[in-house]
Amino acid sequence: MNISEKFNPKADLVLFNGDCLKILEKIPDEFVKLVITSPPYNIGKSYEKRGKLDTYLDSQKKIIQECVRVLSPNGSICWQVGNYVDNGEIIPLDILLYPIFNELNLKMRNRIVWHFGHGLHASKRYSGRYEVILWFTKSDEYTFNLDAVRVPSKYPNKRHFKGPKKGELSGNPLGKNPSDVWDIPNVKSNHIEKTIHPAQFPIELIERLVLSLTDENDWTLDPFMGVGTTQIASIIHSRKSIGAEILVEYYKVAKERINLAIEGELLIRPMERPVFDPNTKEKYVPPKKVSVGNNSTTLFPNF
Ligand SMILES: C[S@@+](CC[C@H](N)C(=O)[O-])C[C@H]1O[C@@H](n2cnc3c(N)ncnc32)[C@H](O)[C@@H]1O
Repeated sequence: MNISEKFNPKADLVLFNGDCLKILEKIPDEFVKLVITSPPYNIGKSYEKRGKLDTYLDSQKKIIQECVRVLSPNGSICWQVGNYVDNGEIIPLDILLYPIFNELNLKMRNRIVWHFGHGLHASKRYSGRYEVILWFTKSDEYTFNLDAVRVPSKYPNKRHFKGPKKGELSGNPLGKNPSDVWDIPNVKSNHIEKTIHPAQFPIELIERLVLSLTDENDWTLDPFMGVGTTQIASIIHSRKSIGAEILVEYYKVAKERINLAIEGELLIRPMERPVFDPNTKEKYVPPKKVSVGNNSTTLFPNF
């Protein structure tokens, strides 16, 4: 695996330590198939909200414009955001960001609600237990591999009970469409993937997007890569990836996790493990070790 610290179209993985706009400007038009990211929420305190909010949206717009420029005509952008909470007041970031994507003529395919079970317990409002992924495409011709991400049907043996198909299975034997509400545990302290990052993606959340919205050898991009979750979900499924992270402490952890994945030693929560339900006896699916399935790999040097 060829890993580079600056943009190199011949690499398999580009890990840039710095401001994402600096690497974005080096990426050619229409180069990546999928942009997946979760941006920072630093939009300021309520007493200075107007000014800070406008500045935040302007800076997001510049980055989104660049992401659209580097996106392939049949590619997708997934912008994952939650609510910014300021003094008990909720500011849903997807509502603020949607007009930017709309002005750039992107087409929204789903507003995916990512539901999770853990978080702060609010006392003056309902506790927040979801975030959203805004999924846009650049055109009407876009990659969507539904079969790669089907989930088990509730009643897999259900059959048509009348008509010409009587007796045949009524559902898809590969499973059902996961829908636009995803129940996936968030990464809290007892999660197998937890690092020092306060807001890392669970790998299984990104695996579903990588598998459905790209093909093998396609490029993914995460301009705010944090501890490299998008890169891990990409390389374990034979995709190439570009990531930028401004803070060196997170960049170092990203490299360490990626090295573990390359060595076949990174433990992740498997996509096939059901969400824990104390009322049912589900079969326990243990954490799994992932690998990139390539023995001729050179490890990225650690600091
Ligand atoms: C919400 S976190 C993303 C976490 C990531 N999804 C993961 O799984 O680790 C946003 C990240 O963007 C980084 N960041 C903020 N501004 C940046 C910039 N201009 N360029 C690159 N990274 C930036 C922050 O340091 C932070 O780690």
